[in-house]
Amino acid sequence: MNTLVDKLSPSITNMIRMDHTAVLATFHQYEIDTKPKTKQALVSAACLALEIHAQLEEEIFYPAMARAGAEDFVEDKSVPEHDTMRTLIDTLRRMKPTDSAYDDTFMELMRDVLHHVADEETRLLPMAERVLHDRLGELGAAMTKRRLELSAPRAGEIAMNTARTLPASSMLLAAGALIAGTYFMKRSTPRHA
Ligand SMILES: [Fe+2]
Ligand SMILES: [Fe+2]
Repeated sequence: MNTLVDKLSPSITNMIRMDHTAVLATFHQYEIDTKPKTKQALVSAACLALEIHAQLEEEIFYPAMARAGAEDFVEDKSVPEHDTMRTLIDTLRRMKPTDSAYDDTFMELMRDVLHHVADEETRLLPMAERVLHDRLGELGAAMTKRRLELSAPRAGEIAMNTARTLPASSMLLAAGALIAGTYFMKRSTPRHA
Protein backbone atom coordinates (compact mmCIF):
# COMPACT_ATOMS: atom_id res chain seq x y z
CA MET A 1 0.00 0.00 0.00
CA ASN A 2 1.55 3.26 -1.07
CA THR A 3 -1.41 5.48 -1.83
CA LEU A 4 -1.74 9.19 -1.11
CA VAL A 5 -3.90 8.42 1.95
CA ASP A 6 -1.14 6.21 3.38
CA LYS A 7 1.43 8.95 2.87
CA LEU A 8 -0.65 11.86 4.16
CA SER A 9 -2.46 10.26 7.10
CA PRO A 10 -1.33 11.22 10.57
CA SER A 11 -0.54 8.40 12.99
CA ILE A 12 -3.60 6.88 14.62
CA THR A 13 -2.76 8.43 18.00
CA ASN A 14 -2.40 11.93 16.56
CA MET A 15 -5.60 11.51 14.58
CA ILE A 16 -7.45 10.59 17.78
CA ARG A 17 -5.96 13.67 19.52
CA MET A 18 -7.10 15.89 16.61
CA ASP A 19 -10.65 14.50 16.82
CA HIS A 20 -10.70 15.20 20.57
CA THR A 21 -9.47 18.77 20.01
CA ALA A 22 -12.18 19.39 17.40
CA VAL A 23 -15.02 18.15 19.60
CA LEU A 24 -13.74 20.11 22.62
CA ALA A 25 -13.67 23.26 20.45
CA THR A 26 -17.36 22.65 19.65
CA PHE A 27 -18.11 22.24 23.37
CA HIS A 28 -16.39 25.54 24.11
CA GLN A 29 -18.72 27.43 21.76
CA TYR A 30 -21.79 26.40 23.79
CA GLU A 31 -22.81 28.97 26.38
CA ILE A 32 -25.98 29.19 28.46
CA ASP A 33 -27.21 32.30 26.64
CA THR A 34 -26.31 30.99 23.16
CA LYS A 35 -29.35 31.20 20.81
CA PRO A 36 -31.43 27.96 20.77
CA LYS A 37 -30.83 27.41 17.03
CA THR A 38 -27.06 27.70 17.51
CA LYS A 39 -27.21 25.42 20.58
CA GLN A 40 -28.98 22.80 18.49
CA ALA A 41 -26.42 23.11 15.68
CA LEU A 42 -23.52 22.80 18.15
CA VAL A 43 -25.11 19.74 19.78
CA SER A 44 -25.76 18.21 16.37
CA ALA A 45 -22.13 18.83 15.28
CA ALA A 46 -20.69 17.41 18.53
CA CYS A 47 -22.96 14.34 18.45
CA LEU A 48 -22.15 13.49 14.83
CA ALA A 49 -18.41 13.95 15.39
CA LEU A 50 -18.55 11.78 18.53
CA GLU A 51 -20.52 9.03 16.79
CA ILE A 52 -18.04 8.80 13.92
CA HIS A 53 -15.05 8.99 16.28
CA ALA A 54 -16.42 6.28 18.59
CA GLN A 55 -17.15 3.95 15.67
CA LEU A 56 -13.63 4.47 14.26
CA GLU A 57 -12.08 3.69 17.64
CA GLU A 58 -14.24 0.61 18.10
CA GLU A 59 -13.52 -0.75 14.63
CA ILE A 60 -9.80 0.03 14.37
CA PHE A 61 -8.10 1.36 17.50
CA TYR A 62 -9.66 -0.64 20.34
CA PRO A 63 -9.25 -4.06 18.66
CA ALA A 64 -5.56 -3.28 18.01
CA MET A 65 -5.14 -2.22 21.65
CA ALA A 66 -7.02 -5.29 22.90
CA ARG A 67 -4.67 -7.54 20.92
CA ALA A 68 -1.70 -5.62 22.35
CA GLY A 69 -2.69 -6.29 25.97
CA ALA A 70 -5.30 -3.64 26.88
CA GLU A 71 -8.29 -5.96 26.49
CA ASP A 72 -9.65 -5.37 30.02
CA PHE A 73 -9.36 -1.59 29.77
CA VAL A 74 -11.12 -1.51 26.40
CA GLU A 75 -13.89 -3.96 27.32
CA ASP A 76 -14.58 -2.82 30.88
CA LYS A 77 -14.15 0.90 30.45
CA SER A 78 -13.81 2.33 26.93
CA VAL A 79 -16.68 0.54 25.17
CA PRO A 80 -19.21 0.91 28.05
CA GLU A 81 -18.38 4.64 28.17
CA HIS A 82 -19.10 4.93 24.43
CA ASP A 83 -22.45 3.21 25.05
CA THR A 84 -23.37 5.69 27.81
CA MET A 85 -22.40 8.51 25.45
CA ARG A 86 -24.68 7.10 22.71
CA THR A 87 -27.61 6.99 25.14
CA LEU A 88 -27.09 10.69 25.95
CA ILE A 89 -26.79 11.50 22.22
CA ASP A 90 -30.15 9.75 21.59
CA THR A 91 -31.75 11.69 24.45
CA LEU A 92 -30.43 15.03 23.14
CA ARG A 93 -31.67 14.32 19.60
CA ARG A 94 -35.18 13.79 20.92
CA MET A 95 -35.14 17.09 22.85
CA LYS A 96 -35.74 20.69 21.78
CA PRO A 97 -33.03 23.26 22.57
CA THR A 98 -35.63 25.21 24.57
CA ASP A 99 -36.40 22.22 26.87
CA SER A 100 -35.48 22.95 30.49
CA ALA A 101 -33.16 19.91 30.70
CA TYR A 102 -31.36 20.57 27.38
CA ASP A 103 -28.38 22.45 28.84
CA ASP A 104 -27.91 19.98 31.70
CA THR A 105 -28.10 16.97 29.37
CA PHE A 106 -25.49 18.46 27.06
CA MET A 107 -23.29 19.35 30.08
CA GLU A 108 -23.58 15.74 31.24
CA LEU A 109 -22.43 14.53 27.82
CA MET A 110 -19.62 17.09 27.91
CA ARG A 111 -18.50 15.96 31.38
CA ASP A 112 -18.51 12.28 30.39
CA VAL A 113 -16.60 12.98 27.18
CA LEU A 114 -13.98 15.14 28.96
CA HIS A 115 -13.40 12.32 31.43
CA HIS A 116 -13.23 9.68 28.68
CA VAL A 117 -10.87 11.83 26.59
CA ALA A 118 -8.61 12.44 29.63
CA ASP A 119 -8.29 8.68 30.18
CA GLU A 120 -7.57 8.03 26.52
CA GLU A 121 -4.99 10.79 26.24
CA THR A 122 -3.15 9.96 29.48
CA ARG A 123 -3.42 6.18 29.48
CA LEU A 124 -4.47 4.56 26.19
CA LEU A 125 -2.62 6.75 23.66
CA PRO A 126 0.74 6.67 25.51
CA MET A 127 0.34 2.90 25.82
CA ALA A 128 -0.39 2.66 22.07
CA GLU A 129 2.77 4.65 21.34
CA ARG A 130 4.76 2.16 23.38
CA VAL A 131 3.25 -1.13 22.23
CA LEU A 132 2.07 -0.34 18.67
CA HIS A 133 4.79 2.13 17.67
CA ASP A 134 5.59 0.37 14.36
CA ARG A 135 1.90 0.20 13.33
CA LEU A 136 0.72 3.74 14.18
CA GLY A 137 1.02 5.00 10.58
CA GLU A 138 -0.69 1.99 9.02
CA LEU A 139 -3.56 2.19 11.56
CA GLY A 140 -3.85 5.94 10.95
CA ALA A 141 -4.27 5.30 7.20
CA ALA A 142 -6.91 2.64 7.89
CA MET A 143 -8.77 5.12 10.08
CA THR A 144 -8.65 7.83 7.40
CA LYS A 145 -10.11 5.46 4.78
CA ARG A 146 -12.88 4.32 7.09
CA ARG A 147 -13.62 7.94 8.10
CA LEU A 148 -14.21 8.83 4.45
CA GLU A 149 -16.68 5.93 4.12
CA LEU A 150 -18.56 6.90 7.28
CA SER A 151 -18.59 10.63 6.50
CA ALA A 152 -19.70 10.45 2.84
CA PRO A 153 -23.38 9.58 3.50
CA ARG A 154 -23.53 12.33 6.14
CA ALA A 155 -21.78 15.07 4.13
CA GLY A 156 -24.93 17.23 3.96
CA GLU A 157 -25.38 17.09 7.73
CA ILE A 158 -21.68 17.92 8.28
CA ALA A 159 -21.80 20.92 5.89
CA MET A 160 -25.00 22.23 7.49
CA ASN A 161 -23.53 21.95 11.01
CA THR A 162 -20.35 23.71 9.89
CA ALA A 163 -22.28 26.59 8.34
CA ARG A 164 -24.53 26.99 11.36
CA THR A 165 -21.79 26.79 13.98
CA LEU A 166 -19.09 28.86 12.29
CA PRO A 167 -17.99 31.49 14.83
CA ALA A 168 -19.05 35.04 13.94
CA SER A 169 -15.38 36.05 13.48
CA SER A 170 -14.96 33.42 10.71
CA MET A 171 -18.19 34.57 9.10
CA LEU A 172 -16.86 38.15 9.10
CA LEU A 173 -13.57 36.99 7.62
CA ALA A 174 -15.40 35.00 4.94
CA ALA A 175 -17.69 37.96 4.20
CA GLY A 176 -14.66 40.27 4.09
CA ALA A 177 -12.87 38.00 1.64
CA LEU A 178 -15.97 37.84 -0.54
CA ILE A 179 -16.36 41.62 -0.60
CA ALA A 180 -12.64 42.10 -1.33
CA GLY A 181 -12.82 39.45 -4.08
CA THR A 182 -15.82 41.12 -5.70
CA TYR A 183 -14.10 44.53 -5.52
CA PHE A 184 -10.91 43.28 -7.20
CA MET A 185 -12.84 41.34 -9.83
CA LYS A 186 -14.79 44.49 -10.71
CA ARG A 187 -11.61 46.53 -10.87
CA SER A 188 -9.88 44.02 -13.13
CA THR A 189 -12.87 43.61 -15.49
CA PRO A 190 -12.39 45.89 -18.53
CA ARG A 191 -15.21 48.36 -18.97
CA HIS A 192 -16.89 48.63 -22.34
CA ALA A 193 -18.78 51.89 -22.19
FE1 LIG B 1 -11.40 9.05 21.62
FE1 LIG C 1 -13.18 6.61 22.99
